[in-house]
Amino acid sequence: MRSYDYAGIVQNAVSKDTMRKGRFSEEASTLLRAYTESISYDWRLYRHDIQGSLAHAKALVAAGILSEEERLLIEKGLLAIQAEIDRKEFAFDEALEDIHMNIEVELIRRIGPVGAKLHTARSRNDQVALDLRLYLREAIAKLRKQCANLQRSLVSFASRHSNIYIPGYTHLQRAQPVLLAHHLLAYTEMLARDRGRLNDCMGRMDELPLGSGAISGSTIVLDRQLLARELCFSRITQNSMDAVSDRDFACEFLSALAILGMHLSRLSEDIILWVSEEFGFLELSDQHTTGSSLMPQKKNPDVAELTRGKTGRLYGNLFSLLTTLKGLPMAYNRDIQEDKEAVFDSLDTASMALPIFEEMLDAAHVRKDRAAAAASDPILLATDLADYLVLRGLPFRQAHEVVGRIVTMAFQLSVPLNQISLQQLRVISPLFEADVKEVFDLQQAVARRLAIGAPAPTNVEERLTYWKNALRESV
Ligand code: ARG
Repeated sequence: MRSYDYAGIVQNAVSKDTMRKGRFSEEASTLLRAYTESISYDWRLYRHDIQGSLAHAKALVAAGILSEEERLLIEKGLLAIQAEIDRKEFAFDEALEDIHMNIEVELIRRIGPVGAKLHTARSRNDQVALDLRLYLREAIAKLRKQCANLQRSLVSFASRHSNIYIPGYTHLQRAQPVLLAHHLLAYTEMLARDRGRLNDCMGRMDELPLGSGAISGSTIVLDRQLLARELCFSRITQNSMDAVSDRDFACEFLSALAILGMHLSRLSEDIILWVSEEFGFLELSDQHTTGSSLMPQKKNPDVAELTRGKTGRLYGNLFSLLTTLKGLPMAYNRDIQEDKEAVFDSLDTASMALPIFEEMLDAAHVRKDRAAAAASDPILLATDLADYLVLRGLPFRQAHEVVGRIVTMAFQLSVPLNQISLQQLRVISPLFEADVKEVFDLQQAVARRLAIGAPAPTNVEERLTYWKNALRESV
């Protein structure tokens, strides 16, 4: 049995088999009700369901089905129901399956037969397709803001530590030196793409499905332009069968969040490594770490670990919906009801992870001594040594080999790379001269990396300024 996340849901309260009247002679089985209901989770669509119904009622006035007085009565009834749900005082009934029936039946109970006119020329199939789009429109706006907030935290953290050097890693082996700010700005770029993907999803989703009915519209012709205006859609779906069975927008949403999750998981992994004593570049605040029930010394990065772990459910939700939809015959099939739990779970997961990361970064500290010690490892500048030879005319492949031999020599002699004497270097290549010492100046080495996108401090400063301005604007 599901755990209901709204206190006012009554299991099998009354036998109000609204949809079965006429066609069925037996009541639905208790097991069937529990199996098919979606009210335990789709109650979250109530505001959007009502928003859709308010617009639909206007279209019914235009189609001559409702009078303006009747519409006003419906509007008043729906808004009263909405207020009651807002206050968590509304008793949802599992026997009524879903949010659409719960609201409609209650409306009819409150305002009588006028309420029974509302569902004219509409099906729950186009209703739910609309509700989910309206819901996701808001959810995406919120997620995009949360992504921008995390970007702001990354940029501000990077600004506060703009002169910290750390080793950059490939294969988790020390590779070349970078600025910590450059490393963090990589995540800012990633989050910008996440926002872009959410925005693309919003753009493609911006089509009104209402008016498609159950599968083929209705003999009562609704003014869909009016509906689109009322509900602020830029476009109208052009095929009623596609409109009621399409959940591409939900797949795109889940896919955008799966990729976002992958990004947060990578950031998590960096944080987990950095707070370990082995790396020791970062310290998280007490507020954002957890203790061990056994080992008194522990301060664990559980937020990052859980986020890395929760990426599994973000991927799972995407796969679950893709699998649900694959092989569905045209048009609506009940399988599609499975879309909502996946969507809500991914939304909840991402929208909890983003703000806690923001908070955790704001309160984190860099262990400057540890970062400096790691970044000063001269082995990080082995490629720079090869570049030195290239600038003196040696083809890069040969320079690579020469430096490889020098690195081996350093290991054999157990000395740091910059401690090999000029004499020893010249035995391997006569191109080395006294100025080779300068290669091992860390700050100069990073400052020389001037190509667009490379970590020279001037570039990083420029990019920080770019992001500060870009993120100042509302998103
Ligand atoms: N609760 C249903 C869903 O989410 C609404 C549509 C039901 N349509 C139907 N023909 N039973 O998909």
